[in-house]
Amino acid sequence: MSRVTAAGVTVRAADGSTLLDRVDLSLAAGELCILAGRNGAGKTLLARCLAGIITPGEGTVHSEGGRPALVFQDTRSQVLGQTVSDDVAMGPRSAGLSHAAIDERVGEALERTGLTGMHLRDPFTLSGGEQRRLSIAAMLAMRPSLLILDEPFSSLDFEGVKSVLSVLLDLYAEGCGIAVITHDLGKLAAHADRLVLLDHGRVHADGPPADVLADAPACGLRLPRGTIGEMTWLR
Ligand SMILES: Nc1ncnc2c1ncn2[C@@H]1O[C@H](COP(=O)(O)OP(=O)(O)O)[C@@H](O)[C@H]1O
Ligand SMILES: [Mg+2]
Repeated sequence: MSRVTAAGVTVRAADGSTLLDRVDLSLAAGELCILAGRNGAGKTLLARCLAGIITPGEGTVHSEGGRPALVFQDTRSQVLGQTVSDDVAMGPRSAGLSHAAIDERVGEALERTGLTGMHLRDPFTLSGGEQRRLSIAAMLAMRPSLLILDEPFSSLDFEGVKSVLSVLLDLYAEGCGIAVITHDLGKLAAHADRLVLLDHGRVHADGPPADVLADAPACGLRLPRGTIGEMTWLR
């Protein structure tokens, strides 16, 4: 089974200040995990460590069954292709797959994200929600079993949030392990198996949302109203 495990991950800035402080965290296939914390808590740095984009100064990141794919917060910085389908094809192409396999992957990823009819569009002409789905499609074409999304709802409207959330829940239902970075627990806490609160570069709490939610305000997060079951934008 796929799993990524961070153990004692520590990252320091050039001036010696500690940005991530002995973080222990794992994400396994089949899990939906929310990684939450205030601005500057270290969420993006941790996601980059988990995805192997940066190597921590101390500690280890170990992945079994392939590295997690990371969908960046800034979708435009992840665009590589001239058209939507070209962009989604980049990963499978650089993995050396055959033309037929690339076409199959691209078709599947576009269908899953509702972008089939836009395959010839210039990625930079897409709406915010479409761009977000494109950046997810580009990762899905690599068929990752672990997917980390850095603030996937940022700057999306209600419909945009719902469409991204439903793509993620479909993947989760199929056994993909998903970590969603967000500070808005109200959008999806109802669906999560785990809530990890990161604060000042440390894991403040990690467990089922029912056990951890009460700690959210101490980490600078808004505690949504209502029961956990009501914390979703899908209903
Ligand atoms: N390359 C870097 N050099 C120095 N400080 C950095 C660097 N990258 C991030 N930081 C700092 O690390 C902290 C955590 O950043 P980040 O992971 O982006 O936070 P979050 O995603 O939770 O908002 C912030 O204080 C940020 O200013
Ligand atoms: Mg961030």
